[in-house]
Amino acid sequence: MRSPSYLLSLFSLRAITLTLAHNSSNPLLDTGANLTFALPTHPVYTFPVGTWIENLAVRANGKILATDDSLPRVYQIDPLSPHTPAILLHEFTDTASILGIVETIPDVFYVCTANYSSAKLEGYGQAYIYKLDMRPFSPSIPSSAAVSKVATLSEAKALDGLAWLEPRDRKGEGLLLVSDFLAGVVWSVDIATGAVAMPINSTYTRSTGFGVNGLKIRDQELYFTNTQQQILVKVAVNSKGEVVGNYTVLAQGGFGPDDFALDAEGDAYVTSFEVGRNGVVFVPREGGEAVYIAGMAGPTAAAFGRGEGEGLRRHDGV
Ligand SMILES: *[C@@H]1O[C@H](CO)[C@@H](O)[C@H](O)[C@H]1NC(C)=O
Ligand SMILES: *[C@@H]1O[C@H](CO)[C@@H](O)[C@H](O)[C@H]1NC(C)=O
Ligand SMILES: *[C@@H]1O[C@H](CO)[C@@H](O)[C@H](O)[C@H]1NC(C)=O
Ligand SMILES: *[C@@H]1O[C@H](CO)[C@@H](O)[C@H](O)[C@H]1NC(C)=O
Ligand SMILES: *[C@@H]1O[C@H](CO)[C@@H](O)[C@H](O)[C@H]1NC(C)=O
Repeated sequence: MRSPSYLLSLFSLRAITLTLAHNSSNPLLDTGANLTFALPTHPVYTFPVGTWIENLAVRANGKILATDDSLPRVYQIDPLSPHTPAILLHEFTDTASILGIVETIPDVFYVCTANYSSAKLEGYGQAYIYKLDMRPFSPSIPSSAAVSKVATLSEAKALDGLAWLEPRDRKGEGLLLVSDFLAGVVWSVDIATGAVAMPINSTYTRSTGFGVNGLKIRDQELYFTNTQQQILVKVAVNSKGEVVGNYTVLAQGGFGPDDFALDAEGDAYVTSFEVGRNGVVFVPREGGEAVYIAGMAGPTAAAFGRGEGEGLRRHDGV
């Protein structure tokens, strides 16, 4: 029997929002996953076949911002109106891909774009961080989000996950941490100056293919997945994103981890695209076996909803 917190976390997962890549028209039936638990899931929006939705962020108003790596574009989706067309916020023209997205201050997001070949495991020196400011956005004017380039990562290969390292003294602008799954490192980007550094290059982030992938920060600890090594890891970092503690492997093997969501207690909900076991796995905060809890075709990222009746629901005092 698992701990009560585990059961409560499963309960709360009902409000999770999941992105679906590829043919998402029948997420539950096509997975072939051997599910330990099969939590109910339903599509909140369906893109045309062939679309690769890679990452998502949820606005405070509950709307979802989703990156479309196949074009590359950013869309807004209303999860409560599955038949309302997605709003195209921006199409990037100087790279072939867009992957990560993260919110820093309310309604200000950053995305990373790159040119790379996952077949040749090469990058072409075109990798950028853009600011996507949703504060001026009005749904009646789809292009009204303000988009600006804030940094160029000329040494990067394939930027993917993005996390926000808040300034500890609340004065500075803080840093973005960006995973590079082909270089197998984590870059930092000072959004005020555009300065780029490489605080992390470790055996846990490296690979001979798809290395460090999803990134999240919670309580000054960086959590990340390494797809090839099949691990979810956490490690304490300082305000520059440098490692200041020992790495803790929270889960290893039995899943093909991509991006993930963390709840307030540090339990992880990791999307996994291992052949025959596509779905979402749960990893408890103290680490342990990656347990499949929901099946669907090709999930790539996870986030909790922020709209009315969404998000984490735990029973106080239990
Ligand atoms: C997408 O999935 C649906 C449901 O499984 C299936 O009927 C359809 O043929 C699929 N389309 C493609 C192009 O694979
Ligand atoms: C599903 O997984 C369980 C536990 O690992 C295993 O005992 C069972 O044989 C698996 N079932 C199938 C159909 O693979
Ligand atoms: C980089 O991206 C641009 C825009 O999609 C594309 O035209 C160009 O061919 C890409 N460069 C490489 C080397 O793939
Ligand atoms: C990361 O470190 C390894 C081992 O020292 C080195 O071979 C590799 O070039 C480094 N990666 C980058 C992007 O600097
Ligand atoms: C890291 O591990 C070493 C060896 O187990 C231990 O001595 C050290 O205190 C640990 N450091 C931290 C910051 O936990």
